[in-house]
Amino acid sequence: MLSQQTIDIVKSTAPVLEVHGVAITTTFYKNLFEAHPELLNIFNHANQAKGRQQTALANTVYAAAVHIDNLAAIIPVVKQIGQKHVSLGIKPEHYPIVGEHLLGAIKEVLGDAATDDIINAWAEAYGVIADAFIGIEEEMYVASESKQGGWRFFKDFTVVNKVKESENITSFYLKPADGSEVPAYPPGQFITIRVSVPGEKYLLNRQYSLSKASDSESFRISVKKEDENNPEGKVSVHLHNNVNVGDTVELSAPAGDFILDPEKSSPVTFISGGVGITPMMSMFETVAKNQSSRKVSFIYSARNESLHPFDQAIRSLMEPMEDAKYVSLYSDTGDGFITKDILAEHAIQQGDVYVCGPVGFMEAMINHLLELGYAKEQIHYEFFGPAMQLELANA
Ligand SMILES: Cc1cc2nc3c(=O)[nH]c(=O)nc-3n(C[C@H](O)[C@H](O)[C@H](O)COP(=O)(O)OP(=O)(O)OC[C@H]3O[C@@H](n4cnc5c(N)ncnc54)[C@H](O)[C@@H]3O)c2cc1C
Ligand code: HEM
Repeated sequence: MLSQQTIDIVKSTAPVLEVHGVAITTTFYKNLFEAHPELLNIFNHANQAKGRQQTALANTVYAAAVHIDNLAAIIPVVKQIGQKHVSLGIKPEHYPIVGEHLLGAIKEVLGDAATDDIINAWAEAYGVIADAFIGIEEEMYVASESKQGGWRFFKDFTVVNKVKESENITSFYLKPADGSEVPAYPPGQFITIRVSVPGEKYLLNRQYSLSKASDSESFRISVKKEDENNPEGKVSVHLHNNVNVGDTVELSAPAGDFILDPEKSSPVTFISGGVGITPMMSMFETVAKNQSSRKVSFIYSARNESLHPFDQAIRSLMEPMEDAKYVSLYSDTGDGFITKDILAEHAIQQGDVYVCGPVGFMEAMINHLLELGYAKEQIHYEFFGPAMQLELANA
């Protein structure tokens, strides 16, 4: 139990730390990686370089600190972050390391303003917050390793098939290298792939949504080759160019809370753009195979026909479905965007709506849906990168 004095100090200093957020976080990561270069095998260097991940960790610690006397309020957020952490194999012993360097950075940046009382209070609070993460993550690890064919951390998988789905998206079918079963997963979940890329000093980890319905045969991921920007995407380009049938990669067990509830039979709308179609394929195939009378609308936008994956697969899955609609648009044609009018016509007002695509796409889609009267609780979305705060008009 934290003392009232500790709680008061933490709550009253949290806003000060937030003000110095960028300085503290920059110092934190620099010192963390200097002291523990092995952690560079876990963190995503591109996210670091772009600053997207930079503030997330520390800001969450401050946000949690504000609720330090009522941690129940932050449990949903801990669960969400925990999905990413377990997918990356974060372990209990990592927490004191992060704690030490976060406190060290606070001390370094605040200087004399960081009195012993303040530092001690934050050390205690961090311990309580870390314990909440460790407890929830342990539950998640136990749940995934106790599944038939389940495991904890990383396991070797063999590429058994490699299929081009469009000009820039290729699917990889993956089976456990030891011949064990593939565990069942709810549609919408992702895995982390860990690879050693030639020329890179550290292992690289990236998340990929499972892009077909769960079966005991194999996983499938569908990867967009990120070669339009400088520098090129390291893992996606490596997978496209160098990873072939027969090769081995390491995978973590399926994780994530962007999932279709298989118990529901209410209508469901899938809205995706570009490679954001991948989790939708898993959800759509699951509905098509198990609930063929469920009302479904699949709305998709690609830049053009050559970049449009899974078109035939969707049409085939739809054949036995009684009430399914599929609309696809090409944004290069000028009027091929998913507008509010398109959503008014094709999205289903009742039931859940799943959205996935670039950040700007999701922001636009969700704002249209809110304006059309959809409730926030109906709308589910997934970031293909660190979670961010979307700018929602009437949120
Ligand atoms: C839950 C989840 C599910 C996902 N599902 C899928 C999926 O199904 N399919 C899929 O294709 N992707 C998916 N992703 C995205 C995927 O994880 C990778 O982010 C993506 O493949 C890019 O990885 P990369 O290593 O190729 O590129 P990276 O090397 O990570 O680079 C990514 C981008 O950052 C830019 N960049 C890199 N370094 C710098 C720098 N120093 N300064 C500025 N810019 C820089 C690059 O130009 C590139 O555009 C998912 C992500 C998440 C979080
Ligand atoms: C209480 C302590 C911690 C908090 C509050 C926290 C918070 C966060 C948050 C908010 C994210 C972003 C989630 C997302 O991508 O959507 C994240 C991601 C991540 N965290 Fe933590 N974290 C903590 C501890 C740790 C520890 C101990 C490690 C291990 C060294 C760790 C490693 C990571 C990694 C590798 C990512 C993904 C970042 C990336 O590569 O892009 N975190 N964490």
